[in-house]
Amino acid sequence: MERDRLLLLARKAALQAHCPYSHFRVGAAIVANGKTYIGVNIEISSYGLTLCAERSALAAALSHGGSTITHIAVTCLDAPPDAPAYERTPCGACRQWIADLAPQATIYIDGIDRDFTIADLLPYAFGLP
Ligand code: THU
Repeated sequence: MERDRLLLLARKAALQAHCPYSHFRVGAAIVANGKTYIGVNIEISSYGLTLCAERSALAAALSHGGSTITHIAVTCLDAPPDAPAYERTPCGACRQWIADLAPQATIYIDGIDRDFTIADLLPYAFGLP
């Protein structure tokens, strides 16, 4: 099943997260034009310039010509098993990236049984014509 395959890849990717400050590993796996891309969160010394896993994976997909993004899986590897949804779901910046770049994607969040669309996560999203 695509959900299980992608979440496994996201978990494997999260092992490579570069998060020396938060120690909160996040991984993302994306399908674009039938190919799979991964991303991890990357923190640097200027904390505010941190790149989230979702945007890292979206950048990888687009950099390889993957323009039609159909699926996105995200895992927060260090969220405790009983963590609430807000500790697992994409941040606001990543939601806007998804709204712009992957508006049709089915979104899988590790630890949450239901699937999401970006309209679920970011209703009334900003956009330009
Ligand atoms: N993080 C992500 O990678 N994706 C999100 O959607 C939320 C937060 C990362 C950023 C930072 O490295 C760590 O999780 C803690 O905020």
